[in-house]
This record gives sequence, structure tokens and C-alpha cells, in this order.
Amino acid sequence: MTFRIAPSILSADFARLGEEVRAVAAAGADLIHFDVMDNHYGPNLTVGPLVCAALRPHVKLPLDVHLMVKPVDRLVPEFAKAGANIISFHPEASEHIDRTIALIKEQGCKAGLVLNPATPLSFLDHTLDKLDLVLLMSVNPGFGGQQFIPSVLPKIEEVRRRIRASGKPIWLEVDGGVKTDNIGEIARAGADTFVAGSAIFGSKDYAATIREMRQKLAVL
Ligand code: DX5
Ligand code: ZN
Repeated sequence: MTFRIAPSILSADFARLGEEVRAVAAAGADLIHFDVMDNHYGPNLTVGPLVCAALRPHVKLPLDVHLMVKPVDRLVPEFAKAGANIISFHPEASEHIDRTIALIKEQGCKAGLVLNPATPLSFLDHTLDKLDLVLLMSVNPGFGGQQFIPSVLPKIEEVRRRIRASGKPIWLEVDGGVKTDNIGEIARAGADTFVAGSAIFGSKDYAATIREMRQKLAVL
């Protein structure tokens, strides 16, 4: 199993964002997780395509854009143009989920569907085969630094079963409350990609924190 660590810039110093993404890249991150909220679907107001485009030249790592916006479709080409590599969205925020997935792929990006802690897995019934990534929220969208919701663990197990049955190399990413002390059990449940905001950007030594996460993953 290949594990990936995706620092979320939501907990970075927004006044020094270029420096911060270069620092986590140098510290061994695999992806840069970019949280987009619109104060409508996502209860916060963060960053848009302009900031994504501004960060693009600072790192070679894939930009993993997590859209917590409604409507979704108009922003997809904007983020593709701004250098996003992965674009994920919430089914509740799209009127036509299949169309949004197709739109993301037409723009040359990988497509992900994001399920909140209380969003049923039935949204994967007719979409999984078309997805590159399933992102399970282990907090409710909005803010960094919230507590991991443990009832998401059996959900991770179930999604891993479905991905295995599909035979496709679909990533299973988990977002919210991931720390060095729970990343092992989240991986054991079946996740392969880990978003971590406050755990990394809130630590003194980004490289040491990412190294500790990888050590926890190595002994599974
Ligand atoms: C929450 C965001 C998360 C957030 C995670 O709405 O989607 O990506 O940054 O932050 P931590 O890792 O601090 O829970
Ligand atoms: Zn996120």
C-alpha cells in the first residue's frame, strides 16, 4: 500500500503561504491539500483560484483542491486553469453529480467525491467507477483543529471494501483530526491518503512530524 500525506494549508500562515508550501514540500509531503470554502456550503471563507495559481510555481507536488462551495461547476475550470491536479467536491453541493465528475475529468484533473461524517455511502453506488479518489470527512467541514469523529472508522472500512471490489486504484483519503497518534488506526481501517492541517502546520518541525506519521504507517 502506498501512503500519502497531504498537509492542509488551512492551518498554514496565510501571510507566508508560498514559504509554507515550500516548507512542507521540503519536509516530505506528497500532496498539498487546498481547502476552498465560500461561507455558503462551507462555513468559512478561504481561498480561490487566484491563490491556487499564485502557489502553483512554488511546488511541484500535486495540488489537491477540496471544494466546499456551492455551486461547484463554475469553479472547476477556474481551478484547473490555476494548476489544480485533483479536484474533489461534496455531492450535496452539486445538482448533477455525474456531470460535475465528467467536467473535472474533461479539464484534465483527477476527480474526487467527498462524504461528510453523516453523508451516506450510497452516493458511491453509481459514481465509484468514475472516481479517482474518495475523500471521507472525519470532521464536519469548516475549520482546522477539530476532533476526529471515531464513527468514521467503520465507514473507512466499508469504502475500502468497495474500492477493493471495484478493482480500481481509487485513493481513499481521510480529512479532519488526523494526528500522529491516530494515523495508524485510520490506515488500518483502510485509508491510504491523509490530510493533516493543524497536526503539521501547528508543529514546530514539519519534517519531524511527517517522519513520525510515516513511522506509524511503516509498522502496520
Ligand atoms: C476542514 C478541512 C480540513 C482541515 C483539516 O473543513 O477540510 O482539510 O484543514 O484540519 P485538521 O487536520 O486540523 O483537522
Ligand atoms: Zn479539506
